[in-house]
Amino acid sequence: MITMKDIIREGHPTLTKRAVDVRLPLSNKDKNTLKEMRQFLINSQTPKIAEAYELRPGVGLAAPQIDISKRMLAIYTEDEKFEKLHDYLMVNPRIVSHTEAQTYMPGGEGCLSIDREVEGLVPRHKRVTVKTYLYDTVRDVLEEHTLKLKGFIAIVFQHELDHLNGVLFTERVKATLEGVEPLQFKTIEKESPKEE
Ligand code: NI
Repeated sequence: MITMKDIIREGHPTLTKRAVDVRLPLSNKDKNTLKEMRQFLINSQTPKIAEAYELRPGVGLAAPQIDISKRMLAIYTEDEKFEKLHDYLMVNPRIVSHTEAQTYMPGGEGCLSIDREVEGLVPRHKRVTVKTYLYDTVRDVLEEHTLKLKGFIAIVFQHELDHLNGVLFTERVKATLEGVEPLQFKTIEKESPKEE
């Protein structure tokens, strides 16, 4: 089980390295890593488990954050309207197109690999089209998909993709973003986890 001690922090060289493509077909080891990454996100969002193991809530995790420098990432979260669960294990993802229009998380971004509060706003593409292999843990298959992501899920994806390229959000923060609309969450009562 992945816990916070497995997650490397700011200053670790792996976090600034470009991760390598995952070799296909997926090895059993890579499959297990992906399953563990997904399980970490679920555990971190389950209050009793998160409390018992002192897990910070996360909606995304990239393999380099557990010191595996390969192009794999996990996302497990609802969208900003709390309508749909996005549950992805991505292998070798890439952006094939994106909008010029940008958006940002109104409260800034957070990261499981960064232990301090970072002030500032992170510009992200509003919509991205992503080509990726998705690992389906139930059927134990890897299939290529094209995903059209927008809003919160697009932001989470771009944050995780940055990790595969050795980039932390702290490199992208701006004090203000002129003419860019922040992402709107449907409810203000329910606070969304934003650690990635
Ligand atoms: Ni992060």
